[in-house]
Amino acid sequence: MQNNTPHNIIQPTSSSLTRRKFLRDTALTAASIGAFGILSSKAQTPAPGKTLKVAVIGCGGRSRGALSNFKDAAMILGHQVEVVALCDVFQDKAQGMAAGQKLDPSICLVGVDSYKKAAASDAEFIILATPPNFRPIHFDAMVKAGKHCFLEKPLAVDPVGARAIIASGEVAKQKGLAAVVGTQRRYEKIYLINKAKIDAGAIGPILGGVVQWNSRVPWVRDRQAGWSDADYMLRNWLNFTELSGDHIVEQHMHNIDVANWFIGRNPVAFLGMGGRARRVTGNQYDFFNCDLDYGNGVHIQSMCRQIGGTYNRIGEFFRGTEGEVNGNGRLIGKEVAIQEPKLDSADPYTQEHVEFIRGVLAGKPLNTIKQGADATLSAIGARISAYTGQVVRWSDMTENTKSPFYALQLSPTALDFEAGTVVLPAETPPLPGEPWGKKA
Ligand SMILES: NC(=O)c1ccc[n+]([C@@H]2O[C@H](COP(=O)([O-])OP(=O)(O)OC[C@H]3O[C@@H](n4cnc5c(N)ncnc54)[C@H](O)[C@@H]3O)[C@@H](O)[C@H]2O)c1
Repeated sequence: MQNNTPHNIIQPTSSSLTRRKFLRDTALTAASIGAFGILSSKAQTPAPGKTLKVAVIGCGGRSRGALSNFKDAAMILGHQVEVVALCDVFQDKAQGMAAGQKLDPSICLVGVDSYKKAAASDAEFIILATPPNFRPIHFDAMVKAGKHCFLEKPLAVDPVGARAIIASGEVAKQKGLAAVVGTQRRYEKIYLINKAKIDAGAIGPILGGVVQWNSRVPWVRDRQAGWSDADYMLRNWLNFTELSGDHIVEQHMHNIDVANWFIGRNPVAFLGMGGRARRVTGNQYDFFNCDLDYGNGVHIQSMCRQIGGTYNRIGEFFRGTEGEVNGNGRLIGKEVAIQEPKLDSADPYTQEHVEFIRGVLAGKPLNTIKQGADATLSAIGARISAYTGQVVRWSDMTENTKSPFYALQLSPTALDFEAGTVVLPAETPPLPGEPWGKKA
């Protein structure tokens, strides 16, 4: 039989030794690229005066903020910004952002697949700021297109999406692409100081605490005549779990992220409850109260509420063996020596963009996908527990393929929106458990 393999190409054999070596060599190549970045050939930060081309996906409140943070960060580093595309499902949103930012309306790209045009554009930087159910497919497309991404939190709404984001984050690392998540507390001076003190032993190992986001419903959009089911869900996304992940994921994940960060690990199990008392639109709960079990006897109470006219409290508190700390406040504990964080901006939203841009230009792209995905998944685990009334383990969402929660993917999915097959789900919240008692 003729062998068509050129004699200078060595085919891997089925021998496990060769296979192990092959995998090890591949891993080494990937690690080298990940460690130094594909930009390492031009590892010096370029002289000031570069024009950074950026595209924005999702033209809402946060993207306006993120774009102005990106511009401020570029200015701090001595560069300028050219906005090459503003993408949104809705024309009024894209045009409204262009007008507000005094940008040429010709850069507006409209449609649920407008992100594909941004991926094909000459933008080097992308800001992803749509509702989070779209984040996994948008990020995947941008990584494939070789773009550096800033991703607003949260990163997904279900375990399938969170695992997809983590996988794309690894590919981004291997390609030397930046992927920075908008968890701004991690760039805020007081949080950084408290974290450094905790790591230096100021309060001893953390034993427990409470994280809270108790506030009101940020906004509601009533359905208008002529809107399709998809239009209504997209316009009112903050009230539909399939798009937002519910407010425990969409909003309270910030505080849960602080718990993961300060404790230094993810929860191992979740037992939550919640319900709806006041919301009259969408299908979310308006309050949750959950136990985040970090193992070794460490428990964090996670509490969040969106009901107007009730007591507001947003923050984090932790007790250690030697003291206590409020996330962004006072620490009572042992005196410890730490290095003051050196920040370029007192505004954490700007600082995260400074790190984003600086990393890219220095050939050391920052990638915070794993920590962002872990915080997202932590909030998702608590939500699933509250919705089902069951205990959820971290492994149920990450490893245990037999768990009903492993394959959980909320529907309509992002791809249903692209395919135009969205059917409005019932505007009622999930009910855990069984009915009980006599009928009236
Ligand atoms: N880091 C923070 O503190 C912070 C603060 C606010 C919001 N956020 C996050 O930012 C994201 C956006 O929130 P927002 O308050 O700006 O919401 P928003 O409703 O103001 O904006 C979202 C925009 O995305 C558009 N959109 C929806 N689906 C799209 C798609 N498939 N393609 C293109 N555009 C699409 C919408 O039409 C809308 O204009 C959310 O994930 C939210 O959790 C983060």
